[in-house]
Amino acid sequence: MSITKEIAVLSGDGIGPEVTSVAVKILQAVCERHDYTLKTENHEVGGASIDRFGRPLTRETLEACKKADAVLLGAVGGSQWDDQPKDKRPEAALLGLRKELGLYANLRPIKTYESLIHASPLKEEIIRDVDIMIVRELTGGIYFGRPRLIEKTDTGERGVDTLIYTTEEVKRIVHTAFETAAVRNRKVTSVDKANVLDSSRLWRRTVTESAKQWPEVTLEHMLVDNCAMQLVRYPSQFDVIVTGNMFGDILSDEASMITGSIGMLPSASLGEKHAMYEPVHGSAPDIAGENKANPLATIASVALMCRYSLDMPEAAREIEEAIETTLKDGFRTGDISTDPSREYVVDTTEMGSAVLKHLNPNLQPGTLL
Ligand code: IPM
Ligand code: MG
Repeated sequence: MSITKEIAVLSGDGIGPEVTSVAVKILQAVCERHDYTLKTENHEVGGASIDRFGRPLTRETLEACKKADAVLLGAVGGSQWDDQPKDKRPEAALLGLRKELGLYANLRPIKTYESLIHASPLKEEIIRDVDIMIVRELTGGIYFGRPRLIEKTDTGERGVDTLIYTTEEVKRIVHTAFETAAVRNRKVTSVDKANVLDSSRLWRRTVTESAKQWPEVTLEHMLVDNCAMQLVRYPSQFDVIVTGNMFGDILSDEASMITGSIGMLPSASLGEKHAMYEPVHGSAPDIAGENKANPLATIASVALMCRYSLDMPEAAREIEEAIETTLKDGFRTGDISTDPSREYVVDTTEMGSAVLKHLNPNLQPGTLL
């Protein structure tokens, strides 16, 4: 009897439905190959959910995510929902899912693909051999601290956000970072702003103390402004970067440019009980519905899902290899194309088909997706 894996698919807004539908087909293919039965259930999230139910995240969607073995999310957001109050904006769904599912550890791998080395705006000698894992704390920090408000004053208004980190929150993300580094290149760079912020001073002290449990892993501390600079100056110095919620948000977008396109970056958000996988890119409303989006970040997210949630490490490697081979074969979506005369510039489904072909060579071209 084959094992059944249940996935909640929240495709969301913009290009979300296009990239998730391709990624689900890839997942289906590896499940068949490894004799697993895949069950997927689609649920609304973000703007799509606002339009249908008046709220970005419904109880039904949340419950479905809690029941599933893993969640695959496309993207949320779009200008038509920009005027909504903050708890009714599409992004509130993402933050709600992270908090309600307890997804405190966000893993964002940044790896250069040899064949995309020219797609990066950075020089080849700088980005060669980059292999970084950003471990971003995802349920604390300034994203969730209270108070947060905008209020009237005698002279105008003032806006308040609060940055809090507790030792417990720091310890558990440090645990994720060091366990990750222990099976990689055994180096952790903890990024903070300890020269200014008290929350960072506590962060740094807690990281130093916790790090003693992993004597084989080297720890260094780096201020966030310096880290932003080092990422474009000498990115191959990094192995694992561990940092708070907002610094991780900013640094991961910056680091995405090393790989040439934010359209290449997958992510895993992990908690004790649940896990969610999503591309780092947004909903790209400007190209939504045009079958132009790069599906590789979502496909790579499904690979992470196989590794961290579905107990299918072999399938994870196969998907990652299939992506590499597809790029080597010259397939490019518009965002990563640098020399169209020597590449096959393809659309979303064609790119998906090219990857799928490496996972199931018996498929006939043109009939894949
Ligand atoms: C990300 C995004 C989100 C974040 C937004 C959409 C709320 O930028 O996942 O990096 O800031 O965390
Ligand atoms: Mg971001």
